[in-house]
Amino acid sequence: MESISFPEGFVWGAATAAFQIEGATTADGRTASIWDTFCQIPGAVVGGDTGDPAADHYYRVDEDVQLMSDLGLHAYRFSTAWPRVRPDAGPVNQAGLDFYSRLVDALLEKNITPWLTLYHWDLPQTLEDEGGWANRDTAYRFAEYAEAVVGALGDRVTNWTTLNEPWCSSLLSYAAGVHAPGRQEPEAAVAAVHHLLLAHGLATAAIRSQLPEAKVGITLNMYPIIPADPEDPADLDAVRRLDGLQNRIFLDPLFKGEYPADIVEDLEPYGFSKHIRENDLEIISTPLDQLGVNYYAEHFVSSTPEAEAPVQTNGRRPTGSPWVGAEHVSFPSRGLPRTDMDWEVQPDGLFKVLMRVHQDYPGIPLFVTENGAAYQDSVNEDGSIDDTERLGYIESHLRACHAAIEAGVDLRGYFAWSLMDNFEWAEGYAKRFGIVHVDYETQVRTPKMSAMWYSKVARGNALAATVAP
Ligand code: FCB
Repeated sequence: MESISFPEGFVWGAATAAFQIEGATTADGRTASIWDTFCQIPGAVVGGDTGDPAADHYYRVDEDVQLMSDLGLHAYRFSTAWPRVRPDAGPVNQAGLDFYSRLVDALLEKNITPWLTLYHWDLPQTLEDEGGWANRDTAYRFAEYAEAVVGALGDRVTNWTTLNEPWCSSLLSYAAGVHAPGRQEPEAAVAAVHHLLLAHGLATAAIRSQLPEAKVGITLNMYPIIPADPEDPADLDAVRRLDGLQNRIFLDPLFKGEYPADIVEDLEPYGFSKHIRENDLEIISTPLDQLGVNYYAEHFVSSTPEAEAPVQTNGRRPTGSPWVGAEHVSFPSRGLPRTDMDWEVQPDGLFKVLMRVHQDYPGIPLFVTENGAAYQDSVNEDGSIDDTERLGYIESHLRACHAAIEAGVDLRGYFAWSLMDNFEWAEGYAKRFGIVHVDYETQVRTPKMSAMWYSKVARGNALAATVAP
């Protein structure tokens, strides 16, 4: 493979999220989020893992910023925790804001651009007790929270992301119950889709009213949906439905000001359209400055349900399907290599999602705000970690980014997921995505081989030639 250079000014970053790294879940006035509660449900999280102490980042923030600086990162994508900033969604908690203020100052001192996400899934539990994202009021409460964060950090933070992956915080959380709050109620899930988008629109307005020069965006997890049999009309219909639920139901209202008609119809039995009020779509489609794309894999789908096999639950609680109205679909194997998450490795899918946005939703600058892979790392005797698979994964996906740029896509940056090993939601600490290793016994951080390599890429704004395997 030949060496390639990225456009001047391309942003090289790494990403994390509050609940996954901070720990300190009761410190300085923070109260419970839905993830704190969810972790207590037997079988909800592998190993009974919880968000404390996670990677103890709350107390190691200076060390972690130094690490980013040593790696030569240009930008750091992190999230602020709603239950720190407004515990129980109540009055502003200065101590919570102070933590993020210190983080931002430390980053700026090292010339690292803070890239702030307001919501990476840690809804205050008190709001869930009132219906969570199925309750329209939560969207207005989110805008209040956004206002508080912008008020405190807007003088130093330019790049704002409202929501991370609303697909996860709606369908995966309220229909499948795989994520917090663990509900398996399709009606609540489709309500959550709309209320999250409304929250995004309201927060965007709240940010802009205080900070007109802010660069505001949202991050979506996008998937190309590939039919198992492109000749089979039932498989093609499964593709249409899944593309609707995964991609179009978020992209269309944001960039076209309307929900896709076919999906509105599919979701009518679940009461979707009754949640949409006058002016909502206008609020949701307020123009954005940038769009974050998270990419991990493609969905290879079949309309034929998988043969009933005895399910090995390994103590996990039973969960449902996130595919409201299309629960029958299955995801057969097509023999591609897989990561430790059992996700296919398909770098070409990243090229496809970038091209798709470029063609179907033109004019919006793009950033890959997450991409990376979990693998079982083994630590050598001298403490080094040769994570060649992760390095190979990131490299192949960066080549896909470059190909998209060559094809005309306005892609302006890439954030590796993740800066460091962390709490991987329902999978707990067993899955490691970090380019930096965390020893959870000692909290010692060790850059893996992928981090050292990524640092060179960021410094040179280029990938060196590699010998194809
Ligand atoms: C994404 C999440 C992120 C991380 C990766 C592996 O869906 O946004 O927090 O867990 O998956």
